Amino acid sequence: MIDNQKILITRKYPAAGINLLRQERFCLTFWEKDRPMTPEELTARAKDHQSLLCTLTDRIDKRFLDQCPHLDIISQFAVGYDNIDIPEATRKGIPVGYTPDAMSEATADIAFGLMIAAARKFFFLHKTIINGQWGYFNPTAHLGFELKGKTLGIFGLGRIGVKMAQRCKAAYDMPVIYHNRTRNPAAEKQLNATWVSFDRLLEQSDILSVHCALTPETRHIFNARAFEKMKPSAVFINTARGPIHKEPDLIDALNKKQIWGAGLDVTDPEPMAKDNPLLSMENVCVLPHAGSGTMEARDRMSVLAAENIIEFYKTGRVPHIVNPEVLA
Ligand code: GLV
Repeated sequence: MIDNQKILITRKYPAAGINLLRQERFCLTFWEKDRPMTPEELTARAKDHQSLLCTLTDRIDKRFLDQCPHLDIISQFAVGYDNIDIPEATRKGIPVGYTPDAMSEATADIAFGLMIAAARKFFFLHKTIINGQWGYFNPTAHLGFELKGKTLGIFGLGRIGVKMAQRCKAAYDMPVIYHNRTRNPAAEKQLNATWVSFDRLLEQSDILSVHCALTPETRHIFNARAFEKMKPSAVFINTARGPIHKEPDLIDALNKKQIWGAGLDVTDPEPMAKDNPLLSMENVCVLPHAGSGTMEARDRMSVLAAENIIEFYKTGRVPHIVNPEVLA
C-alpha cells in the first residue's frame, strides 16, 4: 500500500518517471546538486527514507547497507548494477530493481558509432581542424579502413550485443562470432552467429565489442594477455563498464601496436582525466559514458525505475528485479 513512504531520489531523473511517482501518495526527496552524493551524504539522507531511486554513481556497498538495512526497495536507474552489493542487499531482504532493455538501442548505436569513428579516426581528424592542422588534401595521410565483411566478435551476446550485431550485419555484412558463458541459441539462429572460446574470439575478431556485465569474472578480463592474442588490425570497443578492460594494458597494447585502435564509452576511473594518453591517440575515440544518452532511452529508464517502486508498494512485485529470491 502506498502511504506517504519517503523516497530518496539521488539525481535529476527524467520527468516521465518522476511524474508517475508524483501521482502516487509518496513523499519525494530530491538531491538537487549537480553531482552525486558522497557516500556519507547518501547514508545520512537514506537513513530516514523507506526507498531509494539511485544510479550507477551511487555507492550502495556493504557499509551503506549495514547502516540502512531498513530500506524497503532500491530502484536502480540503469541496466548495470555493479555499484550495488547485491548479495548483501539480498541477505538483508532488500529487493533491487533495475531498468533492462530500456537503453539497448541507444547503447548499440554508441557501440556502432564508436566502431566507425575509430576505424575512420573521427575524433583525431576533428582535432586536426580545431588545432589549425587541416592543411592540404593528403592522399596517404591518416588512413582508416573499411568495415565491409570484417568479423565482428561480441563478448556478451545479450540484449545490447544482439542489437550491435544486427547493425553490423545490416550495414557491412559482417560475420558474427561471440563468446558467452552460456550459449544464446536464439541469437545464433537470428544472426547466424557462431559461439567460440574466449581465445578464438580474441584471435579472430576484427572488431571486438564488449557487452557483458561487470562481475568478479569479467573484471580486467581484457588485459595484457588478452590484447596480445588479438589481431594487430583489430579494434576494441567497450560500451559496458570500464573495469572490464585493464586500462594500462590497453594503453600498452595500443602503443606497441598489438591492436589497431579502440572505441570506449566507459573508462576506469570515470570521469577520465583530461591528460589520459588514450585521448591523444590517433586511432582511439572516447566518449563520457553516454551509451543510454537519448531522450527516449532515459525516459524509458525513468519510467521502469518508477514502476519498480510503485508496483512494489501496490502489489509486492517488482517488475524488473535483480534478486527475485528476496520476494519469493
Ligand atoms: C548504463 O551504463 C547502464 O548501466 O544503464
